[in-house]
Amino acid sequence: MTAQIIDGKAFAAQLREKVGALAADFAEKTGRKAGLAVVLVGDDPASQVYVRSKGKATIAANMESFEHKLAGDTTQEQLEALVDKLNRDPAVDGILVQLPLPSHLDEQAVVDRISPAKDVDGLTPVSTGRLALGLEGLVPCTPLGSLMLLKQIHGDLSGMDAVVVGRSILVGKPMAQLLLAENCTVTIAHSRTRNLAEIVRGADIVVAAVGRAEMVQADWIKQGATVIDVGINRLPPEEGKEKGRLVGDVAFGSASEVAGAITPVPGGVGPMTIAVLLRNTLVAAHRIES
Ligand code: GUN
Repeated sequence: MTAQIIDGKAFAAQLREKVGALAADFAEKTGRKAGLAVVLVGDDPASQVYVRSKGKATIAANMESFEHKLAGDTTQEQLEALVDKLNRDPAVDGILVQLPLPSHLDEQAVVDRISPAKDVDGLTPVSTGRLALGLEGLVPCTPLGSLMLLKQIHGDLSGMDAVVVGRSILVGKPMAQLLLAENCTVTIAHSRTRNLAEIVRGADIVVAAVGRAEMVQADWIKQGATVIDVGINRLPPEEGKEKGRLVGDVAFGSASEVAGAITPVPGGVGPMTIAVLLRNTLVAAHRIES
């Protein structure tokens, strides 16, 4: 069996177009564009690339982009003061502080400072708590994008066995909550899980979000399962090449011989993250206006 390759890039492009049209309506009705502020501290090259593409996508979707690039030695007080200012700014509907922050900064304290109404990353305790309670609210972008892909493949997920490999605040935990809300039977596995391969083998849906290159092997996957690969890892460069290949947390080549459907890396979950961020910004803007 050869798996259906889930085209996240195409689905994300459709979502961005839809959000862009709704954002244009929002601007016409309110006389202002919805605004997303992205805060980057330091000069981590991967984060710089993400922030740049978020800015471009925001503008392309008829929204205002506010980029705040702070020096690597920014203090906790300075960063929190910026978050406070963005919380008060009526032109800003969504605030995203790019993670990880340099190690001298208290990440959770910064995130806690973001107004829940502007928490387009869905990471504040209020957003996290609302998701756990099954209440409406802003949901982290990568898990929500992954869920959209799953629903596109399956429609109703009710009763399916889902295994989430990874328990991060950004992906694993919210992903498990979203799947539970869709009536899946959810197992959260992680680096200390015993018999990981066996547990994954029981799943109709596998979400891999551990950050370890090609860790999930083909023989861990049940025939016909749907595999969502959230990982993005760069392998060491091959001989004569400057950069290594980008791979996910799943051994894609062999896994696609077993799975029923699978996301590629790149071009699977990654593009969905930015599309959902734009969606969340527009949702936040409507809530703030209404
Ligand atoms: N770093 C990598 N992914 C993300 C994300 O979705 N949100 C934030 N804030 N930082 C990230």
